[in-house]
Amino acid sequence: MTEALQTISSEHRSMWQLTVMLEELRKQLGKPDEKPDAELFGLILDYIEHYIERVHQPKEEALLYRAVLDRTDEGREMIAEFQREHAASPEIVARLRSQLNALMHHYPEGVAEFQSALEAYISMMRNHIMREESELFPLARRILSDVDWDEINSAFADSADPSFGETARAEFRSLMSRIVNQAPDPIGFGLVTEAKAAIEANPVLLSVKDLSSHYGRIQALRGVTIDVRQGQLVALVGANGAGKTTLLRAISGVQKVSGGKVSFAGQDITHMRPDQRVRLGICQVPEGRQVFGPLSVEDNLRLGAYTRCDKGAIADDMEQMYVMFPILKQKFRQAAGTLSGGQQQMLAMARALMGRPKLLLLDEPSMGLAPLLIQEIFNAIISLREHGKTVFLVEQNAQAALSIADRAYVIETGETVLSGTGAELLVNEQVKSAYLGI
Ligand SMILES: Nc1ncnc2c1ncn2[C@@H]1O[C@H](COP(=O)(O)OP(=O)(O)OP(=O)(O)O)[C@@H](O)[C@H]1O
Ligand SMILES: [Mg+2]
Repeated sequence: MTEALQTISSEHRSMWQLTVMLEELRKQLGKPDEKPDAELFGLILDYIEHYIERVHQPKEEALLYRAVLDRTDEGREMIAEFQREHAASPEIVARLRSQLNALMHHYPEGVAEFQSALEAYISMMRNHIMREESELFPLARRILSDVDWDEINSAFADSADPSFGETARAEFRSLMSRIVNQAPDPIGFGLVTEAKAAIEANPVLLSVKDLSSHYGRIQALRGVTIDVRQGQLVALVGANGAGKTTLLRAISGVQKVSGGKVSFAGQDITHMRPDQRVRLGICQVPEGRQVFGPLSVEDNLRLGAYTRCDKGAIADDMEQMYVMFPILKQKFRQAAGTLSGGQQQMLAMARALMGRPKLLLLDEPSMGLAPLLIQEIFNAIISLREHGKTVFLVEQNAQAALSIADRAYVIETGETVLSGTGAELLVNEQVKSAYLGI
């Protein structure tokens, strides 16, 4: 990908995160005695005005749209629509501001109108981002020459330009970090605080104590200690080769351990066979998805239920999977191999859920996916947690994983070196410099 498209994509990621946050705030509106957090809403609208409208959009129009229009007629209608949406944004945002103002004075009067205006704006923003990424970018890549790209990339890289240089980007980041800190939950994702406190009191489902494991003479795990409580979403973040996959394999029982203990629902399973662990309800979605390519989506799901004999309930669960992952319903007859990477990841997760696991182990579900698909996968993981599933998520993408995790651990060369709530680790200086690139 060219640097310019990379920059736009990373801005899209921040924008998408804002829509997730707005959506969360929208859902929480209307509780009888809780006024909306006007400051947080205000910061988000500031971000949209100052950066999306004044920096991101003009840059797209002046460079990317312009270049594509100069070369081809193919994207003309689509680009015209993007431009109309850009042009409409200031007025919509101003209206949201005044609605919010009025709402603060007469709460809860006006909640429904504000909610539906927000909903419309969120959906426009998401649709716009998705179409740019899935239709405009591929067109630009196909049509534009190396010379065009050089020009666009160097204009993007021109750090002296006040409208999109380093200064603007620094302001961008600082405003985003104020938003993140103002949000009740790291990125506004996930459950409300009371619900989380309740989960903290749940019994421990998986407990890993001082675990070590070797590949021949290489020690891959050296004293890993982790607790996962019933209903919790626990993340383990760490760099390449830190031992994340090895730990998951040790929990599943396919990797020998050389010391320490693994317990599940109070039972010592350190030396139990993998198939027995599956029967207890531990299910791993391996790295790199591994769906059965030639089989249909539906047959893949059915295979996930192979240990079960309750036919009626299996059909019900299948329906539930289609509710959770609507795209799978649309494609239920297609061969799994024809799905996109993100869709295969969803299928792999759904297939694992068909076994009704008590604990779902996910190994880097975002690996190799485009930014927007990553967001979609993480939304799916949030919804798993909302459905009460217990999830242990292993990720290199620390930002995303910590944003949604109830608790999280950091693993470095086979050792758990830090732990805390996802929110705590997200603002931890050590984590920020080593894993978040800030
Ligand atoms: N089959 C193997 N034989 C020997 N060493 C291995 C084997 N698999 C992993 N290792 C080593 O064990 C350590 C941990 O690897 P592991 O795959 O668990 O890391 P990871 O955190 O999952 O990394 P990644 O993010 O790349 O998936 C690494 O040093 C790796 O080189
Ligand atoms: Mg791995």
